Amino acid sequence: MDRRDFGKQTLGSLLTFSLLESVFSADALADTVKPIASAWLAEVNRMSTDMKSGGLKQTQWQQQVERLFGEIDLQEFLSYVDFEKLTENIQFRERGERSFRATFPNVEGLPTELVFGHQMFALRKDRSVVPHGHNNMATAFLVLKGEFEGKHYDRIEDLDDHMIVRPSIDRRFVPGECSTVSDHKDNVHWFKATSDTAFIFNIHVLNVDPTINRSGRVYIDPHGEKIAGGKIKAEKIKSSEAYKRFG
Ligand SMILES: [Fe+2]
Repeated sequence: MDRRDFGKQTLGSLLTFSLLESVFSADALADTVKPIASAWLAEVNRMSTDMKSGGLKQTQWQQQVERLFGEIDLQEFLSYVDFEKLTENIQFRERGERSFRATFPNVEGLPTELVFGHQMFALRKDRSVVPHGHNNMATAFLVLKGEFEGKHYDRIEDLDDHMIVRPSIDRRFVPGECSTVSDHKDNVHWFKATSDTAFIFNIHVLNVDPTINRSGRVYIDPHGEKIAGGKIKAEKIKSSEAYKRFG
């Protein structure tokens, strides 16, 4: 297998399609790589299906997805790609992230019905994936390019107009690093780009528990009142307000 070609094939279309789609849609992709990519996809799908059926705890899904993402040799792929050129036509948003979505092509041996969704986010410096929690959803971020200031909060309690949260992660994220969200751990996230441009690959499992409410984002302002136990009483805000304050 020619790694240079693999890098070009894979990442050349990253910016308009997702990481996985580009892996599977690359005609010239070496046969030796397809089984690896296929196994990876099948594994994410299996874990997500197990989680939805209750066989895998959400926190276990988080651990396993983080392990799988950790196995991707992203740095090496990226070293073969002219990212500057690939990103020159991207229309970044004034605030927040530009999202790219695509569907997988049909590939023999792959699950046809994926239980998880995937997309890619592109941001300019100082723009954020604004602070929000999720209802009944598990999701993972993998930093592809650039750097972020990444924050997570555990969601302790929901009040009518506020969410009680506790900071759980607050650090710099570089390419190849990932973080995950579920109803039970690190539910709120907020990623601010600290490099000129920055890119995230995202997978998400909606309606983790099909018997309860549908999935959705809940926007908050984490700059709230500090209360006992290192917790914060964070105001729930509308998405437009979240983009205004933090986007
Ligand atoms: Fe999110």
